[in-house]
Amino acid sequence: MEDKHPFLRKTPWDANAFGIDTYEIIAYTEESLQAIAGMPGHFTIKVDPLADKRLLHEYGFYYCDTLIEPYATREQFIFYDKEGVSLAKDVPLAELLAMVDGAFVYGRFHRDFAIDDSRADLRYANWLRQLYEQGNVWALMYNEELAGFFGYEHNKILLHALHDAYRGKGMAKYFWSQAIRRMFAEGHHELTSSISAANLAVLNLYASLGFRFRHAVDVYQKLQR
Ligand SMILES: CC(C)(COP(=O)(O)OP(=O)(O)OC[C@H]1O[C@@H](n2cnc3c(N)ncnc32)[C@H](O)[C@@H]1OP(=O)(O)O)[C@@H](O)C(=O)NCCC(=O)NCCS
Repeated sequence: MEDKHPFLRKTPWDANAFGIDTYEIIAYTEESLQAIAGMPGHFTIKVDPLADKRLLHEYGFYYCDTLIEPYATREQFIFYDKEGVSLAKDVPLAELLAMVDGAFVYGRFHRDFAIDDSRADLRYANWLRQLYEQGNVWALMYNEELAGFFGYEHNKILLHALHDAYRGKGMAKYFWSQAIRRMFAEGHHELTSSISAANLAVLNLYASLGFRFRHAVDVYQKLQR
């Protein structure tokens, strides 16, 4: 597929969750949009927010999200300490998976009207499982109780959530502080993540931890049956 259409990249992890072929279009040109017309599958394209969107609309793509990249160096990072907050790696996967359903409503698949919410949840559950099997998930603990999870890889913070019961109480910065400190301790100079600009709780969380934001992209998607 990539040979025939060099501007297409298959995303098999999404295909697994959605039960259809899924692709990212990596070049925003009329030629690429024309070439996939009529090809069954789910297509994602990320474009500069200032790009002319006319072609996307002409070819039936619709807006789903704006992604931004939080980033911080060790010097910029602000650490918040709180007694009782700790990290663990021995929590069973099932307990972490129980926190996924309905947590990632700002994700671009939850905001894609063509995708069933339960399939979108499955995508995040599969991702959490994969990170857990790689040993890349911290369970976030408060006084020995499970309060959330934090998945990462190298210097990238990838997938994280607090349990419902802990949300909206200003607690997140204490858990994130511990996990981010551990990531810096692995020797990374800079940490990055990717968030939806509409997810104000996570945006304000990163801001309070000293992160700045860059590389905004608008995400458009299309389902072709
Ligand atoms: C993202 C998440 C971990 C943040 O935790 P939280 O408990 O909701 O957030 P907190 O109460 O600690 O608040 C964090 C900051 O955001 C602000 N905030 C919280 N909810 C907000 C909202 N709806 N709108 C604007 N600001 C908000 C808080 O005031 C706080 O800022 P402050 O420290 O300057 O006061 C949590 O909401 C969550 O698990 N969400 C579901 C999963 C998710 O979205 N993960 C991120 C995907 S990239």
